[in-house]
Amino acid sequence: MKIFHLSAECYPLAKVGGLADVVGALPKYQNQLGCDSMVIMPFYNTKYTQNNTFEEVFSGRIHLGSHLVDFQILNLKSDDLGFEVFCVHIPELLYRTDVYCNDDSFRFMAFQVAALDWIKQMQNLPDIIHCHDHHSGIVPFMMSHSFVYERLRYIPSVLTIHNGQYQGWTGMETASLIPHFKADRLGFLIWRNMINPLASAIKCAWKVTTVSPSYMQELMYKANGLEDLLRHESAKCVGILNGIDTSVWNPKDDGNLMKTYTARTSASGKQANKEFLCKEFNLNPEKPLVAFIGRLVGEKAADLLPYACDFGLETTDANILILGSGDPQVEYQLNALKEKHHGRYNAFIGYDEKLSHLIYAGADFLLMPSRVEPCGLNQMYALRYGTVPVVNRVGGLKDTVVDFSLEHGFGVTFDNASVADIVNAIQRCMYFYSEEKRFKANQKTMMGIDHSWDKSAQDYLDLYTSLKQN
Ligand code: ADP
Ligand code: GLC
Repeated sequence: MKIFHLSAECYPLAKVGGLADVVGALPKYQNQLGCDSMVIMPFYNTKYTQNNTFEEVFSGRIHLGSHLVDFQILNLKSDDLGFEVFCVHIPELLYRTDVYCNDDSFRFMAFQVAALDWIKQMQNLPDIIHCHDHHSGIVPFMMSHSFVYERLRYIPSVLTIHNGQYQGWTGMETASLIPHFKADRLGFLIWRNMINPLASAIKCAWKVTTVSPSYMQELMYKANGLEDLLRHESAKCVGILNGIDTSVWNPKDDGNLMKTYTARTSASGKQANKEFLCKEFNLNPEKPLVAFIGRLVGEKAADLLPYACDFGLETTDANILILGSGDPQVEYQLNALKEKHHGRYNAFIGYDEKLSHLIYAGADFLLMPSRVEPCGLNQMYALRYGTVPVVNRVGGLKDTVVDFSLEHGFGVTFDNASVADIVNAIQRCMYFYSEEKRFKANQKTMMGIDHSWDKSAQDYLDLYTSLKQN
């Protein structure tokens, strides 16, 4: 089965968050199941694209309203990823160091139109076109309604919603950029008087998935304005839990670590990484280490972190380490805490992939107080590295973490994104940590939990197959 994934991000070419990790892993696992799965994405100016070789396989010109835009399709010359990558190269629009900019409606429209122009002339058309988030959300509409893409009309399209908060809203004038379609189809693009690419994809894709079952249920009631639409389309909606790439995220041979380890050697392995981390960040390796890794935005409840860290440090013995970037106000507050809690708290404001691996390995607890978490990969990485996830029970966090007070429990959970709940959770972490024997045994248990893509990749295949049979 030939599958094209269309996405704005794909690890290791360009990563802002978990979308990249998913699109950088799912095709590989699908190929292991015998598919021919590949990724189409914009060609950005990143370290990876600078340091790797790409070959032009197609060139063309698209009309976006009155604009004429030349593009090339570049094929990554590497077998390392386990899947093929094709990049849409439009130097003046896409070749930038940032994945997301403030002219994204136009940029991603160009990406989508160029991608379909390339696909439509192929001798062997794909069996499935799988769109990820709103950046490729106009594709299902164009496949169904634009005259130039008539050849693609019967190819099933799938939309995966990684994050329903962002929908790509844009003004009505954007409709004029889309290759010609019948005027009475305009409604498929619109939601609440705006062109809404995510809503359009929910209306036009053959199937809509989200990245965890609980998030799909939540979206029916809380979807940043799309609740009614999702309820209306619920028959074609399904939640499939993300997996993790266990070859990239493996403490046994992770080159980013100070010391690699397995479940058997977890106690000494984790301690060595903790000691290194604590030395780097002036923390005390004898104390329980609580970490946070993530985008400093409202969805992650990052605005609560400065207060929760402050009270948590005042009322417990914990050390706290933060890795993240985002809201400048939160960044400022998190930096400001360094002085007050010198020697017990530190924060690295920025993005650092290597450091994130070290923290998953060296921390005792990983805090995720998210208000919204469609799936969340961090808690699954934490488990893989024997680190206790401490999570607010929403979305994918609810589907993957069981509180240690319950039968077969291994994590720490709470039910509100509030300062009081986070501080209370940190206090419970201290209690858990003090039960040394159980705590160490739990590290091994967590490392044995299987969140690899094997099962979910098969679930996606079953879904594609059901569409091909219709
Ligand atoms: P989201 O996609 O909403 O940001 P996920 O939990 O799905 O959340 O994925 C986040 C991914 O981004 C993980 O791979 C995490 O390790 C990584 N990440 C987030 N912030 C940083 C950072 N500051 N430095 C390094 N990696 C980060
Ligand atoms: C989004 C979500 C996150 C999810 C990721 C990958 O960025 O915020 O919860 O894990 O996509 O699907």
